[in-house]
Amino acid sequence: MRKHFAIGTGNHLTLHGIDLIELSSKYGTPLFIFDEATLNENFERFRRAFEKVYPKNMICYSTKTNNNLTICKLLREKGASAEVASELGLYAALKAGFPGNKLIYDGPFKPISVLKKALKNNILLVNVESFQEMKKLNSIAGEMGVEQAIGLRVNSFKPPRFFKYLNPNNLLEAGYCHPSCRFGFLLRDIHKAFEYAQKMENLRLECLMAHPYQRASNLLLPLLKDAHEQFGFEIKYLNVGGGFDPGVSGSTGDFLLILDFIKRKLGLKSSLDKRKEIPSIESVAESIAKDIKQNLGNLPEPTLITEPGRFIVGSSGMLLSRVDQIKMAGGYKWVIVDAGTNIVPLIHDRRRILIANRATESNKELVNVVGPLLYPKDFIAIKESIPNVEENDIIAVLDCGAYSLSSSTQFLYPRPTAVLINSREEVKVIRKKETPEDVLRKDALI
Ligand SMILES: Cc1ncc(COP(=O)(O)O)c(C=O)c1O
Repeated sequence: MRKHFAIGTGNHLTLHGIDLIELSSKYGTPLFIFDEATLNENFERFRRAFEKVYPKNMICYSTKTNNNLTICKLLREKGASAEVASELGLYAALKAGFPGNKLIYDGPFKPISVLKKALKNNILLVNVESFQEMKKLNSIAGEMGVEQAIGLRVNSFKPPRFFKYLNPNNLLEAGYCHPSCRFGFLLRDIHKAFEYAQKMENLRLECLMAHPYQRASNLLLPLLKDAHEQFGFEIKYLNVGGGFDPGVSGSTGDFLLILDFIKRKLGLKSSLDKRKEIPSIESVAESIAKDIKQNLGNLPEPTLITEPGRFIVGSSGMLLSRVDQIKMAGGYKWVIVDAGTNIVPLIHDRRRILIANRATESNKELVNVVGPLLYPKDFIAIKESIPNVEENDIIAVLDCGAYSLSSSTQFLYPRPTAVLINSREEVKVIRKKETPEDVLRKDALI
């Protein structure tokens, strides 16, 4: 999105020539702004990266990242398929016009009613996560008189070995449990899962899946071989999940903040200022394709499925938020704005921010931008460097397209307007601002 910014009259930030301060006056703040050009560019870059090295592939946009109907529809029109993970996700994908045969259904919780809807809509694949789920799906498919194609999700969790004692995170994980080990089949159970799948007369095993992509191809390729050679399955799809990091925002967490505080007291350099290096999507695609080609042997080439979310939508959305108050406390400058983790995700607190009404000013100071909620973790940005900020400034929070519209809550505040600047550079509302009546509409007063 940054490349479509410019400075307009009055030192205002513009996007495709549209004055963002005028937009904030017209629609009020907070205001989400999505950019169709950026959405297209992100999708195209991802598509080209994989197309170049592995043409037989299918991009299943992870709808939970942003389930707005217009966003989903635009991605469908660009040629995306979709990954859904709930009844809401399935509803949104169908409503946005995705045909069932371009949908795959993921997730550890799949209620019978939703599985039935998915099968009724001829869903391409259901990625099964447990023996119980396989049994349940087999009987649903039997009742409905259909044969359903399935994938098996394989868990890439590796129990930490001896070196766990040297890593405090591993110690913690070994101490209670690895939070991710509930997803999919553990590697040690996967042959049993193949045997089980052979007995499911109404299911057809066609896919192996793991998420995130980092360990997926290493994990899945030997299993693909086993599935073909030892169990006689014809695996058509290899799904490496999501996890494609656009590298535009980051998180710190309490531990790093405390460490930073101690470092500052000792006069040391803050480690919060380091940005992590993210591999380019082109190099990620290349290494996945290389892994597959090198390890496939004589097996038929599977269709590679990817489930990107943040990479596609993250940088296509921004948030405009008004500075309500400025306060000094604890050695920090706190900028209190009218939007918080109620509408942008809690997982990121290192976001790029700009002052949209004084876009060229360059004197910088470190500030914490915090939302209106009453809990300490309500951060928009931690220790970001921006020009001297004043009350009523409009802060542009970049890279807010992922896990904002789909995971915002109505805690204390109704959800705000979202607009899209479309390819004709017109502004269209893609989600209307809620009112207190909207929030309480389903409540009963008894
Ligand atoms: C199964 C699955 N697929 C895809 C995604 C999207 O991941 P990302 O947005 O990191 O690409 C997620 C997100 O957690 C996921 O759980």
